[in-house]
Amino acid sequence: MTRIVAGNWKMHHGPPGAADFFSRFVPRVDSIPVRLVFFTPDVALAASIASARVPAEFGVQNIHWEAAGALTGETSAEMAREAGATLALIGHSERRHVFGETDAEVNRKVLAAVRAGLTPVVCVGELLEERRAGRLEEVLRGQVGAFVGSLTGDREFMVAYEPVWAIGTGETATPADAAEAHGIVRKALGELGHAPILYGGSVKPGNAASLMSAHDVDGVLVGGASLDPDVFAGIVEATPSARS
Ligand code: PGA
Repeated sequence: MTRIVAGNWKMHHGPPGAADFFSRFVPRVDSIPVRLVFFTPDVALAASIASARVPAEFGVQNIHWEAAGALTGETSAEMAREAGATLALIGHSERRHVFGETDAEVNRKVLAAVRAGLTPVVCVGELLEERRAGRLEEVLRGQVGAFVGSLTGDREFMVAYEPVWAIGTGETATPADAAEAHGIVRKALGELGHAPILYGGSVKPGNAASLMSAHDVDGVLVGGASLDPDVFAGIVEATPSARS
């Protein structure tokens, strides 16, 4: 399986920032041995698609589960698709822990993404206190169990394992930690366990190769280190080119 390198820009890079990013990123990665994905702010999606000039896929960072309605400030999966997105990040740690998104809402969003023909990239991950209390497996099984019944084998989806304590903190799971958690997620997916599972949480050029060489790690979801084109290109360059 070709490794997936996904950037999650969070609330960074509007249209001019996106255009500037790609003008500096494209010359760095002329032949790309990876599947490249960008989760841009909604308002920068069109500018990103227009200026990318490398084979890449684009997604939104959040969707609402309704197709349309009096829901000020929300974007539906259908609208994201119309704007050129082909993937949607769902249940990112910041959505869960800053905006209080629940497992039930995550599931509704997964169903909405599938309905609209978007590839859901569903984020799961434990808090530090849950890990310390030995609850890693219970938490991951619970989060995966909340949405896996809404998916079938004929629609692409991905899972991103992002330990909450490693996001934006500079703390990274070891490759062994990642392999263990990914194994748990894969088992919890049951017959859909072939889906790609990305690792996220302080991925950088210096740790990307070892994380992506860990068992069951099919790629990375990168936050802070995806904002700078040279740094993100360094992660692309560090990606092992083929799955062993
Ligand atoms: P980080 O974020 O790489 O800045 O830790 C990862 C993410 O939130 O997807």
